[in-house]
Amino acid sequence: MVGGAAGSFIGPVHRMAAELDGVIELVAGAFSQDPERSRQAGASYGISAERAYANYEEMMERERKRQDAIDFVCIVTPNHLHLPVALAALEHGFHVMSDKPATATLEEAYALQEAVRRTSLLYALTFTYTGYPLVREARQMARAGALGKIRKAVVQYSQGWLSGSLEATGHKQAVWRSDPAQAGLGGAIGDIGVHAFNLLEYVSGHRVAEICADLSSVVAGRALDDDCNVLLKLDNGAPGVLFVSQIAAGDRNDLQLHLYGEKGGLHWWQEDPNRLELNWIGKPSQTLHAAADYLAPSTRLDFRLPMGHPEGLVEAFANIYRDFAVAVRSRFSDAAAQLSDIVPGIREGVRSMTFVERAVVSSRSRAGWVGLPR
Ligand SMILES: NC(=O)c1ccc[n+]([C@@H]2O[C@H](COP(=O)([O-])OP(=O)(O)OC[C@H]3O[C@@H](n4cnc5c(N)ncnc54)[C@H](O)[C@@H]3O)[C@@H](O)[C@H]2O)c1
Repeated sequence: MVGGAAGSFIGPVHRMAAELDGVIELVAGAFSQDPERSRQAGASYGISAERAYANYEEMMERERKRQDAIDFVCIVTPNHLHLPVALAALEHGFHVMSDKPATATLEEAYALQEAVRRTSLLYALTFTYTGYPLVREARQMARAGALGKIRKAVVQYSQGWLSGSLEATGHKQAVWRSDPAQAGLGGAIGDIGVHAFNLLEYVSGHRVAEICADLSSVVAGRALDDDCNVLLKLDNGAPGVLFVSQIAAGDRNDLQLHLYGEKGGLHWWQEDPNRLELNWIGKPSQTLHAAADYLAPSTRLDFRLPMGHPEGLVEAFANIYRDFAVAVRSRFSDAAAQLSDIVPGIREGVRSMTFVERAVVSSRSRAGWVGLPR
């Protein structure tokens, strides 16, 4: 693990999720830019002292020489380090599981794509919401045509935690997210817009072909966007709307997907993730529940508890880790083994960074509609 020291948000979640099914073990890390804090984090994670490294370069070098070397590196640092850490891992022969966004800029995403291609190693991206069972069920249904031709898409991701200038108080997660040198090109759009964009493409099976973006920095003095309103055109001509905000006062983590086809619509809410609503034309509405027997056989592998026992974010992360572990393991016997397309990878990383770059640049120049290249 790179990142994830005490006081960090997502590193400890990765650790819980990775280890949930007993097939992955956290054995080494460079958990902080501060060697002493990295050492302390290693102790709190219960790993041996000589494998809590002072920095990630040292970790890659030393691990490469070990008989029991790590199999892959998990990246949970602020965004500007995603590319250098991923490149270092790949160059040292380690697969990569990175948190989003793939990189800080689109140019960096292309550089990473080239390195993944060149090294033929596995690269996965934790677009967390793709790990929820009912998101995967919705994906299967939409792609199999259950809704008919998709005719409208609405995706919303609203949070309120940056409604004030939290970064001015020194709040750790707010400080780097509002600093272009650490967050990259996008503010809210890079932080949560990429989740919304990915979720829409992941479930619908359609690419977003064109966008018309209006990004704002609502809180005075903020260098990056904190509110984004984007009109979409899918590759089948269907219209859509993506709205993302971190100044939606009072909202918590309100990610919602609404997909409408010719026959009906599907609706999923991240804050109530074990329910999928289906509204049909001319027949009664349906509610699908996680862990029910009537779900697709592959979806039934994605939960661990019987119906009515809620699972959530950690388990969704764990599903991505479990699928990644299968690919890493199969590499031991078949070097050509690839990651299942159920797990987002570098392709989704480049797509989402293309979206961020096009949205930021076109909004700044008030360019109106712009295309997203394939
Ligand atoms: N998938 C999700 O739902 C999700 C949720 C939250 C955050 N994230 C992503 O995870 C990443 C981390 O976000 P966070 O909120 O946990 O940030 P954070 O500020 O809470 O933690 C970042 C960690 O990285 C460490 N770090 C910084 N520089 C380092 C270096 N040079 N070497 C080693 N460690 C270093 C910090 O010490 C800290 O422990 C971001 O890219 C963010 O976009 C994803």
